[in-house]
Amino acid sequence: MKISQRAEQLEPSVTLVASAKAKALKAQGLDILTLTVGEPDFATPENIQEAAIAAIKNGSASYYTPTAGIPELRQAIVNYLEKNYGLTYKTSQTIVTDGAKFALYSLFQAILDAGDEVIIPVPYWVSYGEQVKLAGGTPVFVKCHESQQFKVTVAQLEAAYTEKTKAMILNSPSNPTGMIYTKEELTAIGNWAVEKDLLIIADDIYGRLVYNGNEFTPIATISEEIRKHTIIINGVSKTYAMTGWRIGYAVGDETIIQAMIDIASQATSNPTAVSQYAAVEALSGEQDTVEEMRVAFEERLNKIYPLVAALPGIYLEKPQGAFYLFPNVKEMLNLCGYENVTKWVDDLLEEAQVALVTGEGFGSDEHIRISYATNLGILEEAIERIAKFIDSKRKA
Ligand SMILES: Cc1ncc(COP(=O)(O)O)c(C=O)c1O
Repeated sequence: MKISQRAEQLEPSVTLVASAKAKALKAQGLDILTLTVGEPDFATPENIQEAAIAAIKNGSASYYTPTAGIPELRQAIVNYLEKNYGLTYKTSQTIVTDGAKFALYSLFQAILDAGDEVIIPVPYWVSYGEQVKLAGGTPVFVKCHESQQFKVTVAQLEAAYTEKTKAMILNSPSNPTGMIYTKEELTAIGNWAVEKDLLIIADDIYGRLVYNGNEFTPIATISEEIRKHTIIINGVSKTYAMTGWRIGYAVGDETIIQAMIDIASQATSNPTAVSQYAAVEALSGEQDTVEEMRVAFEERLNKIYPLVAALPGIYLEKPQGAFYLFPNVKEMLNLCGYENVTKWVDDLLEEAQVALVTGEGFGSDEHIRISYATNLGILEEAIERIAKFIDSKRKA
């Protein structure tokens, strides 16, 4: 049977495709080093595991929950935003979703009509554009060069703006670049969005993963007007090493949130009950393990950044947050005699057994993305293999 045009036109997630490929080769017995997926290698902290076990044992995890999430978790989200950022919301302004990914998906379904435009700064997280298209919207990509730390400016937003622009996405710290917007930049962008009456979709999922004294400011904290125009997207996957539990959330305008709840009621019914009980503990329980994991990521970044930056033909500014490096490899591709970054990434996997992701899925054909959410031993060996691979191609 013929599949829909919508499905036909969909680009599968490059990160998931890359990690599936690496897993398949690993299953064949090959010694693959995987730097593809943005997934902490730590186990979910014990207090969170215990909360889940208790919810299973006492029976509360056995049943459907309200679509928007259990009241305890919606309250925990409200408390978390108040405590960490001084942001005050009502529980009716929150929805718990199946990962932040579904928060974004249902948000686009809730706000977009055919042809509505969403401004997406490039490089972008792989799913934004495809999700906008799935909702019938049009992604408008704005290329942000590394000379501007990959951050979008008001002048660029102004140039991209049309009558059909409905929203813009801001992801800080960014996947894939690791860059963080300053308060001044957020103020300028936020005021511009308010003036145009646009929705700011603030993907704050890496907000707790910032390093070397850098600071994250949620755009919603800049002013009351900006906050009213912002939907915050967040989740427990990255901060609490809970990718597999699939809990995310969105917070903001009550009418939009209610539309998202109605969509989820027809799409998923509710996020997995046991994961919601675990997430209550994640957001409200002790936070020492978050700091331990953050420090471990910081150490990895500080160790591997100089090694990657020193590879021949590579340009890389030091990332400030998240857990990715996004080096420019244009010159290196030239040195190695490659015209195409994806071909280079494929050959690296085949010949050096290192899996990473081509920049093409993030909107750039001259970058690669390396996830350092894995242990230092693997990272160091992978960089060594990459160095040898480059060397062998240069000599060839
Ligand atoms: C920028 C960004 N947003 C959202 C997500 C979705 O996270 P999850 O669905 O695991 O909560 C990810 C995951 O990679 C991400 O990198």
